[in-house]
Amino acid sequence: MKIIIGSDHGAVALKEEVKMVLKEFSGVTVTDVGTFGTEAVDYPDIAEKVCGEIVSGNADRGIVLCGTGIGISMAANKIKGIRCAMCGDTYSARMSREHNDANVLALGGRVTGFGPAGEIVRAWMTTEFAGGRHARRVNKIMALENK
Ligand code: RB5
Repeated sequence: MKIIIGSDHGAVALKEEVKMVLKEFSGVTVTDVGTFGTEAVDYPDIAEKVCGEIVSGNADRGIVLCGTGIGISMAANKIKGIRCAMCGDTYSARMSREHNDANVLALGGRVTGFGPAGEIVRAWMTTEFAGGRHARRVNKIMALENK
C-alpha cells in the first residue's frame, strides 16, 4: 500500500512520529510531501499535494496533519474523491475505515500526543471497509460531489 503524508508547520514533529509508526507495517511505502521545517506554510496547499496523489492513483491512502487537524481536513474534503476523517481517538479512526471508507486520515499536531496518535494510525491502517449498507451511504456521500 502506498501512503502519502504531509503536514503544515504545526505538525512536523507528529508527522515524523507517524512515519516511524508506519514502518511497523510491511508492504507499506510512505512518501512525505513536507513540510519539513518551522517556516509557516498554508495547510490547503499541503492537502492539495497529498490528495492529488490519491485521486491521480499514485497513492492508495493519505495522512494529513496541521495544528488541529481541522483546517487540513476541511481542505482535503473539498477535493473530489477524498473522504478525510479527522480523528482524535481510536474508535473514530476504526469507524472512519469500517463505515466511511476514509481514504485520508487527519491528525492535529498541537492536540494529539505521540502515543495516542500512534494508536490512531495503527487502528486506521488495520481496519477494512465493511461494505454492505455502508457502501450505499458512502456512495451517497460521493454523489454529493456532483450536486
Ligand atoms: C497554523 O497556525 C494553524 O492554523 C494550522 O496548523 C491548523 O491548526 C489549522 O486548522
